[in-house]
Amino acid sequence: MNKPLVAVLAAAFSLCLARGADSLTMATEATFPPYEFLRGQEVVGIDVELSRAVAQKLGREFRVENMDFDSVIPAVVSGKAQLAASGITITEDRKKNVDFSIPYVKTGIVVVYRKANPYKGAAQLKGEKIGVQSGTTSENYVLEQLKQEPERFKTSAEACAAMLAGRCAFVIADVDPAKNCVKGNDDLALSDFISSEEYAIAVAKGQAELLAAVNEVIAAARADGRLAKWAADYKAESDKLKEGAPAVEKPAEKGAIAKFWDAVCDDFYLCFLKPSADGSVRGAYLVRGLGVTIEVAFSAIVLGLLVGFLVAVVRSSHDKYGYFPVLNALSKTYLTIVRGTPMVVQLLITYYIILRSVESKELIAILAFGINSGAYQAEILRAGITSIDPGQMEAGRALGLGYWQTMLRIILPQAVRNVLPALGNEFIVLMKDTSIVGYIALIDLAKGGDIIRSQTYSVYLPYLTVAAVYLVLVVTFTWLLGKLERYLRNTGADPVHNDS
Ligand code: ARG
Repeated sequence: MNKPLVAVLAAAFSLCLARGADSLTMATEATFPPYEFLRGQEVVGIDVELSRAVAQKLGREFRVENMDFDSVIPAVVSGKAQLAASGITITEDRKKNVDFSIPYVKTGIVVVYRKANPYKGAAQLKGEKIGVQSGTTSENYVLEQLKQEPERFKTSAEACAAMLAGRCAFVIADVDPAKNCVKGNDDLALSDFISSEEYAIAVAKGQAELLAAVNEVIAAARADGRLAKWAADYKAESDKLKEGAPAVEKPAEKGAIAKFWDAVCDDFYLCFLKPSADGSVRGAYLVRGLGVTIEVAFSAIVLGLLVGFLVAVVRSSHDKYGYFPVLNALSKTYLTIVRGTPMVVQLLITYYIILRSVESKELIAILAFGINSGAYQAEILRAGITSIDPGQMEAGRALGLGYWQTMLRIILPQAVRNVLPALGNEFIVLMKDTSIVGYIALIDLAKGGDIIRSQTYSVYLPYLTVAAVYLVLVVTFTWLLGKLERYLRNTGADPVHNDS
């Protein structure tokens, strides 16, 4: 399978091609019902309807990108998306970076509290741990009004889960998602508005035509009643999403163990098996996510091996025989940059800057991880090559083989066998490191578990299951590597162990 090669070529091509000007991408963070939330794998909600109407009006193909909320505005600023529609409040600060449409709803933020710790007024918030969704106006409220640091979470649902677990005293969030947190949870309640806000759609600065289209769509949808209808329909649908959520504490009539077991079963059903409106089950996030993890990890390992071999041969040939001075200098620079910067940052740079016009996030992840891992694999392989007795090279040459032939047929097989344990280590690290692809909104195993957690408000099963699946993946892989090691040892290339 030469997927990596195809991947490299495809990336190079799409870099040169037009920038997909005929599609219209909406950036959003889909844990915000009824404005945007997941129905199975699909993002739906009021914002999606509005943005889709804009795309239709402009005759452009419509796409939705689901990402963290604090990436939504940067996505339009960087040109990754054309519309940011994510229940975004109009603020003076944001106006400096993007242009806002006319508002389409008046709403506000509220305090979510545990009934056991009733909220009585703003004075009570001071000095308490307050959970917020990162990058939101709720975060600003804590920073600016309360002059303290909030506890930042990726979603307000997570903040609520943290409050239920006793990790913060209050949560501040927009009223609609806050209602969704409280629904079905008798322990929680909401305050009145502590600040009022208006939502609008954001576009990059200076896009007058696009902005005019958005404004017309909003005005028309309000006038003909579609906006109100979407609001009612999606509220009803998102309310249903939470039916069957586990009640936090039921009075204990049964024995503790039976009760615990019931709760686990309920939770298991809710997290993995309960069919949603469109018939899909949440477990599918994990299954698909696992597919993405395997695809990204293994393609990146192969790409990394290719890059690693090349760089290792160049570096060791240069060190021993003075060959390839220019390639050697390039390789050294590559090693320095890749090993000197964090993987997440490399992934984000690849996504937002280097391959910004590439659609496939899998491809972006494979390239970023492959190129990163290539640097580590190169050094491991170089150690392997240097460990081989120079006599082997001389013998190869004496037999009439060329330099590359000797390298490929005599030196590398022995080198690889010697460093297989170290390479295996690198593969395992890479496999687990791919769990950061959620940063570029790719749904892998880890992100799949995270989505389930954000929809069900249950933390144990999603995370523990994800951990178990990674463990199985790594153990299986280690076992395969062990087999390969034994196989190589027994194929006659090793005079010392050849007797087994
Ligand atoms: N209205 C708030 C803000 O603009 C929160 C929006 C969060 N939206 C979301 N889709 N998560 O900061």
